[in-house]
Amino acid sequence: ISDARAMASSASSLEALEAALAAFEHCELKHGARSLVFCDGRPQARVMIIGEAPGRDEDIQGRPFVGRAGQLLDRMLAAIGLSREATDAESAVYITNILPWRPPQNRDPKPEEIAMLKPFVERHVELVSPDLLVLMGNISCQAMLGRRGITRLRGEWSEVLGLPALPMFHPAYLLRNPSAKREAWADLLELKARLKRGEA
Ligand code: URA
Repeated sequence: ISDARAMASSASSLEALEAALAAFEHCELKHGARSLVFCDGRPQARVMIIGEAPGRDEDIQGRPFVGRAGQLLDRMLAAIGLSREATDAESAVYITNILPWRPPQNRDPKPEEIAMLKPFVERHVELVSPDLLVLMGNISCQAMLGRRGITRLRGEWSEVLGLPALPMFHPAYLLRNPSAKREAWADLLELKARLKRGEA
């Protein structure tokens, strides 16, 4: 972990951070994955979304949230006027994950994997320097807030690295539990309202 911290903190750009991850040899997951999945969207975006880990489609394409959950995420964002393709900071988003490599069979990340890779995520947030964070699902909350229990955490702003952070249900969870889309919609409206207030 001290290695990870040193490598992450010496990265002075997003390109350097991605290169540092590519050169990081201490995480087993790297050896079972096809791609390093670093980010998508616009670094100038006001909103940075932090998911869990690449799945099969993401591992193949090398981009986060491109499978079914990702398609739902895009629809959710579009409903409040955000997209990863937008070129203006107001409507753009930037997307990354806690883990840049797909865990075997999409198993949950282990706490020690999260701890090992967290310095990279923290540096990632610093370099993007968004106005606010969206934490997608339990793993993202566990990593960034040190707390699980998304049903209780969702919809309430917390502070992460000095930034407002909103936990939300993960789109993969919403695919399995469509009735939770009601809460997800409320959280999207809360996100939009905060962006509009400009106080983020
Ligand atoms: N789920 C995630 O949390 N991240 C992805 O990139 C894809 C699915």
